[in-house]
Amino acid sequence: MAEVKKIAVIAGDGIGPEVVAEAEKVLKRTEELFGYRFETEHALFGGIAIDEKGTPLPQETLEVCQNADAVLLGAVGGPKWDSNPAELRPETGLLGIRKALGLFSNLRPAVVFDCLKDASTLKPEVLEGTDLIVVRELTGGIYFGEKYRRETENGQQAVDTCAYTVNEVERIVRQAFEIAQKRRKKLASVDKANVLESSRLWREVVIRVAADYPDVELEHVLVDNCAMQLLRRPSSFDVIVTENMFGDILSDEAAMLTGSIGMLSSASLGAGSFGLYEPVHGSAPDIAGQNLANPIATILSVALMLRMTFGYADAADSIEKAVAEVLDAGHRTSDIAVDKSSAIGTIAMGDLIVATMK
Ligand code: IPM
Ligand code: MG
Repeated sequence: MAEVKKIAVIAGDGIGPEVVAEAEKVLKRTEELFGYRFETEHALFGGIAIDEKGTPLPQETLEVCQNADAVLLGAVGGPKWDSNPAELRPETGLLGIRKALGLFSNLRPAVVFDCLKDASTLKPEVLEGTDLIVVRELTGGIYFGEKYRRETENGQQAVDTCAYTVNEVERIVRQAFEIAQKRRKKLASVDKANVLESSRLWREVVIRVAADYPDVELEHVLVDNCAMQLLRRPSSFDVIVTENMFGDILSDEAAMLTGSIGMLSSASLGAGSFGLYEPVHGSAPDIAGQNLANPIATILSVALMLRMTFGYADAADSIEKAVAEVLDAGHRTSDIAVDKSSAIGTIAMGDLIVATMK
C-alpha cells in the first residue's frame, strides 16, 4: 500500500471553496486509479479566518500546514476586508504563510493550449508555441523590507525598502537554472540593474552562478523590456527568474498570454519537497457561489503537487491529459468560452475532468 500523504487544504474566500472542492474530487479519483493515499485536513485562512478567529493566519492553521507534506490553497481576499488595517488583511496572511513555511520560490507556468489560442487578446500567430515558466523569488525584496512612515519638512513620507542578500538571490537562481536544465535550457534573468542596487547584486550573483550551468543559455533582461518582449515574442522565453515584485507583475502578464488566468497553476517551494500549491487567480468575489468559476487552475495545481512534492508523475500526467482532452472536446467555463451561452459550470467542468482521467 502506498504511504499516506498529508495534504493541508485551505479553501479560503470567494470562489476558493468551489474550485478546491473540484480539486479534491480529482485527488479522490487519483487514489482510485493509482492506489495512492491522501489524508486531507481543512484549515481556516484569509478573510474567513479574520471573521471566525480574528486573524488571517491562525496559529492552528500554520500547524496544520507544518504537519502536512503539502498545502492546497484556493484563494483569499475580498472587498469585505479591503479597508481593514494591514494586520487584518487576507493578503498579510498570504505573505505570513509564505514566510513561515520558508517558501522562497514561486513557480508559475504559462502554457498556451492550442485549442484556447482564440481566447487570448493576442494574435494566435504571436502565441504559437508559448510555454514558459516564471520563477519568482517569494520571501524577500520590497514585500518584506522595512516599511514605515515618517514626518518630513514636506509632510508625511512613506518608505518601502527593497533588500536582498547574496544567499537569498543565489538559492532562487540555482533553482531556476536547474529547472531550465530540465526544459529547453534557456534562462532569462530579469532585473533593473541600470537603476537599482539590489538588481546589481542580483545580476552579479546570476553571472557567478551561471558558470555552474554552462549548458543553459542565459540572457539578462531589464524588467521594462521584459514586459514588452513578453507581448512581442512570448514563445522565445523558457524560464524567467526574477525578484518578488517584478515576478508578481510579470506573472500576471504571462498569465494573460494563455487567454485566462483561470487556467494557471502555481507551486511555492522551499528547500525540500514540501510545497504550497494554488491557482494564480484570486478569489473573484464577483462570481463567487454561482458555479461559474473555472476550476482548471486549481486542478492543475494538484497535478503540480503530485509531480513536484510526491513524485507521482503518472497521476500528474493523467490529470493534465484529462484537462487537455476536455478542452479539446470543446468544453469551456465562461471565462474561456468564446460563445458564453454554451459555457458549463464549475461542477460540470470538475466532473468531466474526473470522468476523463485514465
Ligand atoms: C500573488 C498576489 C499576492 C502577491 C497578493 C494577493 C499579496 O498578487 O500571489 O501574486 O502580490 O504576491
Ligand atoms: Mg500577483
